[in-house]
Amino acid sequence: MMNKPFPENFMWGGAVAAHQVEGAWDKGGKGPSIVDVLTSGAHGVDRVITAEIQDDCFYANHEASDFYHRYPEDIALLAEMGFRCFRTSIAWSRIFPRGDEAEPNEEGLRFYDALFDELLKYGIEPVITLSHFEMPNFLVTEYGGWKNRKVLEFFVRFSAVVINRFQHKVKYWMTFNEINNQRNWKTPLFGYCCSGVIFTHEPNPEECMYQVLHHQFVASAQVVKLGHEINPALQIGCMIAMVPLYPFSCHPDDVMYAQEAMRERFLFSDVHMRGHYPAYILNEWQRKGYHIAMEADDAQILREGCADYIGLSYYMSNAVSKENAGSGTALSGFEGSVPNPHVKASDWGWQIDPVGLRYVLNILYERYEKPLFVVENGFGAIDKMDEKGEINDDYRIDYLRAHIEQMKKAVTEDGVDLMGYTPWGCIDCVSFTTGQYSKRYGFIYVNKNDDGSGDFSRSKKKSFDWYRRVIASNGEEL
Ligand code: BG6
Repeated sequence: MMNKPFPENFMWGGAVAAHQVEGAWDKGGKGPSIVDVLTSGAHGVDRVITAEIQDDCFYANHEASDFYHRYPEDIALLAEMGFRCFRTSIAWSRIFPRGDEAEPNEEGLRFYDALFDELLKYGIEPVITLSHFEMPNFLVTEYGGWKNRKVLEFFVRFSAVVINRFQHKVKYWMTFNEINNQRNWKTPLFGYCCSGVIFTHEPNPEECMYQVLHHQFVASAQVVKLGHEINPALQIGCMIAMVPLYPFSCHPDDVMYAQEAMRERFLFSDVHMRGHYPAYILNEWQRKGYHIAMEADDAQILREGCADYIGLSYYMSNAVSKENAGSGTALSGFEGSVPNPHVKASDWGWQIDPVGLRYVLNILYERYEKPLFVVENGFGAIDKMDEKGEINDDYRIDYLRAHIEQMKKAVTEDGVDLMGYTPWGCIDCVSFTTGQYSKRYGFIYVNKNDDGSGDFSRSKKKSFDWYRRVIASNGEEL
């Protein structure tokens, strides 16, 4: 039997984040952000948080892909591919350079006005993340990042300003990108990028992580509520990194261990979508003697600010085994994870598992029955130009095709309510985990290299035309 097609209004597009593409880190009144003091690393070489900008370090995010200056050219290319939407974020430090000012920086707001106008000119719907691994550095050095409840107020102020300003240009919003990364508190990069806190420097790192999270959950709920008051037509989602953790074996201990490990993801969707803390986390806090400071009306705010949809990233699955508990906290692994013999991995060790995408869409939809939006998926790879100057990125096409096929099954066979699909890094950009240019995801190649060389010129990869056909055929021609 033939599958039903994707819905006609399915939002095909692509995704980036402000700090990974814009560059112009100190232009237009922008203040330094936490990423502006994060050096470039490599696979196996950690990025270093230097606190201040040091002359002898390389910070790829300072120039990134120079999107700040080249967005009209880039958006024309996205329009050529037929994009129906484009996901990016607003750099908080362009709007509030220090973060605690009473008034926003008008020049920063004007940049996003112009960017959104350019997208809308082509009928491309902006999908905007409010916090994508970027906050003013001042809020970290002076306030201690999201440990401090004052940062919650500053974030809500920033969100109110941009939602008010752009409400007629941007309908789809998300609060915190991959908010659950920091649950992996042993890896400093995750806490630092999610909330400006290095948990391993804290006396009670895990408890501190939950405190930070509480502030962000409340902030997210406040923003959802406020956004709906500003304009009831707005759709405001959460955003979760959805790496499913399979039991490595059918041994009941592995199955139970995997279920417990999945709470590291579900905690986030549970609070965002149900508006309260689930029993398993309250019990964990009690068992461990954690005290998470909450204010009297926080519970009500959480209840009243449930997200409208779940945005999720999906790159890989992992398998976990009880025997391995306590190990594997590296960037490419998770606690208790073991290599899955049934799937291959990318050069960066990310395990490629298209069926896992259908699996996560189903578990999320069964659990909440709320719309889902795959706002990241993709294949980071080293692209090489051939002698004709072409990039034949068949590996990327294969990866995306296989994932779209599974996504299609989730929609057309399983009945999942899926809003759209925005593969990551549609324009080559700086890698989050490694700070490299050479870990590329794009349909559009950006001529820039890890040593800083390159002129930022753009060219189309083979996947560019392939994805154009996918969109034009509404996912029928893969
Ligand atoms: C997600 C992030 O973790 O994955 C993006 O939301 C990131 O910011 C993407 O770039 C891919 O990760 P990386 O490390 O390959 O850039």
